[in-house]
Amino acid sequence: MGSSHAHRKLACLATSLGSSRLMPFTLGLNTRVIISSHPDTAREILCGSSFSDRPIKESARALMFERAIGFAPSGKYWSQLRRIAANHMFSPRRISSLESLRQRVANDMIKNVQFEMNERNMVELKWILKKGSLNNVLESVFGSNLGVEGEKLGSMVEEGYELISEFNWADYIPLKFVDFSGVKKRCHKLAGQVNCLIGRIIKERKKEGNVNTKNDFLSVCLSLPKEDQLSDADLVAVLWEMVFRGTDTVAILLEWIMARMVLHQDVQAKAQKEIDTCVGQGRHVQDSDIPNLPYLQAIVKEVLRLHPPGPLLSWARLAIHDVHVDKFLVPAGTTAMVNMWAITHDPTIWKDPWAFQPERFIKEEVSIMGSDLRLAPFGSGRRVCPGRVLGLTTVQLWLARLLQEFKWSPLISSSQQVDLSECLKLSLEMKNPLVCCAVNRVHVLPN
Ligand code: HEM
Repeated sequence: MGSSHAHRKLACLATSLGSSRLMPFTLGLNTRVIISSHPDTAREILCGSSFSDRPIKESARALMFERAIGFAPSGKYWSQLRRIAANHMFSPRRISSLESLRQRVANDMIKNVQFEMNERNMVELKWILKKGSLNNVLESVFGSNLGVEGEKLGSMVEEGYELISEFNWADYIPLKFVDFSGVKKRCHKLAGQVNCLIGRIIKERKKEGNVNTKNDFLSVCLSLPKEDQLSDADLVAVLWEMVFRGTDTVAILLEWIMARMVLHQDVQAKAQKEIDTCVGQGRHVQDSDIPNLPYLQAIVKEVLRLHPPGPLLSWARLAIHDVHVDKFLVPAGTTAMVNMWAITHDPTIWKDPWAFQPERFIKEEVSIMGSDLRLAPFGSGRRVCPGRVLGLTTVQLWLARLLQEFKWSPLISSSQQVDLSECLKLSLEMKNPLVCCAVNRVHVLPN
């Protein structure tokens, strides 16, 4: 499970043992696990009420995630957090009010690509996308002008990602006082820094007042009615989670999409033709154009199928009572995982599952929002990703802007060709960052 290819190994095992519907195993001394590689059992696990908690790793607990949406046990507090987030962070009105921010970040990313091309004649997209995604989340959560503090938060997210991704034996064997790889110590240090920084921002915002007039998530949380108010400590955990979850997921998905665009020039050209026909070359693509760009949407779906950012749905579920899955008795306390990667690569479910064919989603309408378990990259059921519409809206707009602005192609040098090798950390990342060329397509658009 500590391997960077756990999703592939588990898929192979399930196929060879004929256990795709449900495979039981034990991790460490006594952590009982079941894993589903089939849409039917995936639905039973994700959409029923029995697996509504998540097992929490020592590192996630130390990093305060137990008090945020992702790891809070399902109950009153978790429902309150989901409601606040649904109404004030992810509502359609709020997502649309953030379009000007998304456009500004897209302008910055385009400038950075241009700068890299002028300086080095090549672009390593990963850092441009990560920086853009971080700025986008920071401004929507804290408002503008975080400056140096924003950069510090970015480094903290990086460190947190590394710590949570690390396999820690202490999660599976009862040796609570041993800190094998120093993870515990590093987590406590990082939690202290996060508390200090976000705690200070909260205090300053309270002192400034006027929170009712501001649109960022922090100000909105501070102006909630009394019965919904969170303590400062809980608010730190919630804001930290938003930044933590919202930054890398979007950047990683967009890097995979751009890698596919560089590799499949015909697909790229078709998407650009669609943009030119629908939007033209005289103005930037806007959110309202996306429904008229079905091929672009199909590309995003196909990349989510081939490279789901959370192939094991990242955060497992925990049985809160004894339950039957596919007629087998699963005892309370069992960890359940869905191998979405195995499902989206299953030849009995998808025709030519290894081929990159966005057209398959033009021929057949498939929802990726959680209702169709053949392709549920955002999970499903009560704990489905609450950021999925915001995440998709952001990825689709930035993809359209990058394709409208540049023609993307591989480098001539054979040593830096697109490499689709994967590395599973908290999300499924490209092992070797995408390096490519970008040439301006249109010169008339004002920034
Ligand atoms: C490409 C983008 C994204 C992908 C692929 C993704 C994927 C996922 C997945 C697979 C889950 C687990 C769902 C389950 O257990 O059924 C999840 C949960 C979650 N995601 Fe996302 N996510 C994305 C973007 C975001 C964004 C932008 C945010 C917030 C800013 C976010 C916040 C969360 C939170 C808070 C949870 C925990 C929900 C709960 O336990 O109640 N995600 N996400």
